[in-house]
Amino acid sequence: MTAPGKFLTFEGCEGCGKSTQIASTLAWLRSAKLLVHEVREPGGTPVGEIIRHLLKHDPVGQSMTAETELLLFAASRAELVRQLIHPSLTRGEWVIADRFHDSTTVFQGNARGLPMEEVNFINGFAIAHREPDLTLILDLDPSEARNRALRRPRPAGQKDRLEDLDLGFYQKVAEGYRSLAQREPQRVKLIDASGTREATFALIQKELRHAFPSLPR
Ligand SMILES: Nc1ncnc2c1ncn2[C@@H]1O[C@H](COP(=O)(O)OP(=O)(O)OP(=O)(O)O)[C@@H](O)[C@H]1O
Ligand SMILES: [Mg+2]
Repeated sequence: MTAPGKFLTFEGCEGCGKSTQIASTLAWLRSAKLLVHEVREPGGTPVGEIIRHLLKHDPVGQSMTAETELLLFAASRAELVRQLIHPSLTRGEWVIADRFHDSTTVFQGNARGLPMEEVNFINGFAIAHREPDLTLILDLDPSEARNRALRRPRPAGQKDRLEDLDLGFYQKVAEGYRSLAQREPQRVKLIDASGTREATFALIQKELRHAFPSLPR
């Protein structure tokens, strides 16, 4: 039987560089001949895609309660875990998730203030208690994420979606992530994402090599 695969998750505020760093990590791991899947939440399964649509296009605007939002994310995740993530890991393949259950802890628990005990219970149920092997939090001050967005070239008159970022909300998110890294130092690593793309990727490679010594030097 093949060895069970590895499950990595990338977390962090909006615009902290997750997509950028996941792309570099995928290219690196694939060049080492590993079979790696990338998953994105919500979505990734037929039911998950319907839930994604519901969450992104809530027809009555901001009407959804924090509880409903949490349960929809959990439902999408429950599908993804059982249909894609677990079967892949069992086959010895790797999975990289762009956000996972820690986003629920931090966004719905720390930032929106739902009771943490209940958030943790629903999270554990949704992921069948299979936590990621390694979670990398790209730690970037939300105001810096917004500055990066403002520096980006864009068509005249067009706003960047990060321009209106609610900084107070995202400060709570960033603090929630930092306290998670303190509570679970084995699984969760904070990566300083304030440097260049290359500098941040070098920090990620260092953590990955430390956690999985068989990766190329
Ligand atoms: N180290 C960096 N320095 C400057 N700009 C960066 C850096 N890393 C990424 N960027 C730019 O910042 C923007 C946000 O990066 P990216 O889309 O990777 O973040 P994200 O965390 O995936 O965002 P989202 O949460 O919105 O999905 C992009 O325009 C990207 O090119
Ligand atoms: Mg992204």
